[in-house]
Amino acid sequence: MTTSAADIHQIVNGLSAPQKQISPKYFYDARGSKLFDDITRLPEYYLTYAELGIMWDNIAEIVELVGKQASLIEFGSGSSLKTRILLEHLSELAAYVPVDISEEHLHASANQIRDEFPHVDVLPVVADFTQEFSLPAPMVMPVRNIVYFPGSTIGNFECEIAIGLLRVMHHEAGKGGALLIGVDLQKDPAVIEKAYNDSAGVTAQFNLNMLQRLNRDYGANFDVNAFTHSANYDQDKSRVVIKLVSQADQTFEIGDTAFDIAAGETILTEYSHKYTLDGFAAMARTAGFAVEKVWTDAKRLFSVQFLTRL
Ligand code: SAH
Ligand code: AVI
Repeated sequence: MTTSAADIHQIVNGLSAPQKQISPKYFYDARGSKLFDDITRLPEYYLTYAELGIMWDNIAEIVELVGKQASLIEFGSGSSLKTRILLEHLSELAAYVPVDISEEHLHASANQIRDEFPHVDVLPVVADFTQEFSLPAPMVMPVRNIVYFPGSTIGNFECEIAIGLLRVMHHEAGKGGALLIGVDLQKDPAVIEKAYNDSAGVTAQFNLNMLQRLNRDYGANFDVNAFTHSANYDQDKSRVVIKLVSQADQTFEIGDTAFDIAAGETILTEYSHKYTLDGFAAMARTAGFAVEKVWTDAKRLFSVQFLTRL
């Protein structure tokens, strides 16, 4: 993604709020995408292995619901890890359209998918899916669009914004289309907190990388060593709150704008909401979707859901 004045405006606005904040979309430069991949391999990060297990255990039924000659449009595709299970089993696919904000990583992943699945028409789109963007037309006319949104990335958005995003997916799915989505579930808070405070410190590096990224791409001058990672589960709001904590009274700048931050003061970088099946179904319904099928793992850590348009 190229640096835009709108991005800088958004970052400055967020840091000017009483609770300083930066959108999680700025995690994902090339290093951030690699660090996220490292997170998915951590023993504490149950989300990925639980979702992969659900996909493997139910792939026949999933393939049946997706049907033939669909265009598979993935929001926030990253390394397309879970998608490979679908691509291995969907013998007839009109196209695979991975959409991601992390340009270099998206193109590298798309090229790898092309090598592994030469029969698939792979059409990567670099876009911020919270803004308007357009999708390419596949060479083969698809029978239907299946929007794929794995990883519980939906949980990184507050309720109203998440519903807005589901509405965009509803629109992209179009008539006869559907949404296949990964949704993380509420569970023992200790299990959740461990997933975001791993013993190897990878999540801390992922969080702190945002400051390095802002220094490099957005004219900031954060002292990265003067901040630490924090992640706590807020049980009332059913979400992990991920922050950077200033270790000193200090000043930093973004371009020409200077900000003071006190020792102990925080910058909010991400929420990760955890859902009940009923709570998520209500949100989906508001966006025009009915839950047709829910698969979970034996421990009910995570769910994969197939939503159709009401
Ligand atoms: N779907 C993958 C990756 C999840 S990580 C998985 O389940 O493992 C979240 C992904 O969404 C990253 O690849 C990130 O670059 C992308 N992303 C985050 N915010 C985005 C936005 N606003 N627009 C487009 N992509 C975004
Ligand atoms: C991408 N997203 C679903 C991850 C999550 O679990 O909320 C991002 C993440 N943040 C810290 N660890 C992982």
